[in-house]
Amino acid sequence: MNAFNEAIDVTVRLLTRLQQESDHPPRASRGALEHLRLTKSRTLAAVVDSSRAADSKAERLARLREQVAVCVLCPHLAASRTQTVFGVGHLEAELMFIGEAPGAEEDREGEPFVGRAGQLLTKIIGAMGFSREEIYIANVLKCRPDTPGKTAGNRPPTPAEMATCLRYLTKQIEIIQPRVLVALGATAVEGLLAIREPMGRLRGRWHSYRETPLMITYHPSYLLRNQSNTEKRKVWEDMLLVLERLERPISEKQRNYFR
Ligand code: URA
Repeated sequence: MNAFNEAIDVTVRLLTRLQQESDHPPRASRGALEHLRLTKSRTLAAVVDSSRAADSKAERLARLREQVAVCVLCPHLAASRTQTVFGVGHLEAELMFIGEAPGAEEDREGEPFVGRAGQLLTKIIGAMGFSREEIYIANVLKCRPDTPGKTAGNRPPTPAEMATCLRYLTKQIEIIQPRVLVALGATAVEGLLAIREPMGRLRGRWHSYRETPLMITYHPSYLLRNQSNTEKRKVWEDMLLVLERLERPISEKQRNYFR
């Protein structure tokens, strides 16, 4: 691109000099010279714009991750966490799963959904025809909810903790711009939409979060507690709706899982 712009510079300089100094001015009108100059500035602007757009997602997400890593808005969580758990996946993900908060394993590893519930989520993602690397996974809360006085177990995040932390998830969604969001469980829904309703009434239909289509389904840890095919089938039906919305091919085998 530099060579192209230099060539235009040289051409404009030469034509201008010839026009000013020669007894036989070249047939380049003032308009043509102006057009050449404009071509150069437009090309330059397009190159600058496209390089900004190309690296800004990665840069903006990296800056947000740094901000989250030092966040102390919830001092009790900042004091108890091993590390923040930002999110994982593809910058261009079409699909983003949203859980509630990191558990003990996630706090240790710094990645969401790596424990038992995470293994089940990874299976669901695989059954949909995606890999974990192709989509994006994040939580409403970026810190593990503390459990003072306890050596094991997790607790759900409070509405106040989620309201404080939601700004980070909102920015993640703004940067990644997935086509579809999936909220896992009533607590994630409460964090996102500030509503508390039974899952039976929320799941299986489209909602939206700031204009991005949002599917609500059961949290994988619910499926670990309720291993019946009826409950698995409900989650799978919700995922089929997601695949249809993303215009992904659905095989007969996929349609008939849990039938
Ligand atoms: N449950 C969640 O909601 N998020 C995790 O990251 C792990 C378990």
